[in-house]
Amino acid sequence: MQDPAAREAAIRYGKDRTLLCASCHGVDGNANRPDYPNLAGQNPTYLVQQVAKFADGRRVNFVMQALTKDFTVEDKVNLAIYYSLQTVKPIAYDEREASRGADLYARSCFRCHGASGKGEEGYARIAGQQIAYVEDTLKRYRANTRSSTDPRDIRRSDTSMEQVAALLSDADITSLAHYLAQLR
Ligand code: HEC
Ligand code: HEC
Repeated sequence: MQDPAAREAAIRYGKDRTLLCASCHGVDGNANRPDYPNLAGQNPTYLVQQVAKFADGRRVNFVMQALTKDFTVEDKVNLAIYYSLQTVKPIAYDEREASRGADLYARSCFRCHGASGKGEEGYARIAGQQIAYVEDTLKRYRANTRSSTDPRDIRRSDTSMEQVAALLSDADITSLAHYLAQLR
């Protein structure tokens, strides 16, 4: 990031690679569907980590695993730099749910994801994230802490997030998702 010429080249190269990604994550990293994640404005370290998790199977999603298995380290870094520099676009949310989510956020999420949900390093940016994606993701972390053996449960594992999600009800999850949607 220090050398301007190298940085420009990384952004250009990263943008070329996004041709494979735009149909779901949007050209500028704002997802085309509420159940797909935005990549815009995401922390580059987090992006690289997640692509690595798909590539080696620690995170499960058929399309993402197929797409990333042959990525070089350079591919991952360039894509991460490109997306981290894009701007998150506002999405519609429910104000009543969001105001209920504010208290929960202050109590349980603030200490890792920061006051405005921008996170840092391995802590994901969750500000402005797609509502259905956030709901599904929190339920998947939570499922990892319960004994369901339903093979349709595609779980997502992370020790910090499992501890937090285990304590959330479905109603809490909905309120939090609407609260995150309006964070900038
Ligand atoms: C067919 C749709 C589709 C395409 C094409 C696609 N993705 Fe994804 N991507 C998804 C879905 C769905 C998820 C969420 C998976 C999950 O729930 O774990 C995801 C998750 C991700 C994540 C994790 C985001 C987060 O917030 O944790 C990253 C990073 C990512 N994709 C990068 C890419 C890149 C880079 C490309 C292009 C090379 C790409 N994706 C192409 C559908 C797609
Ligand atoms: C102890 C630290 C910690 C706390 C507290 C915490 N998180 Fe997280 N969160 C993380 C980490 C680390 C990740 C990345 C995990 C991974 O790799 O799957 C994450 C990931 C997430 C994701 C997935 C982001 C994405 O793009 O896929 C969401 C959504 C999320 N957190 C929401 C919350 C909410 C809502 C709360 C409060 C109820 C919360 N987190 C509290 C550390 C924390």
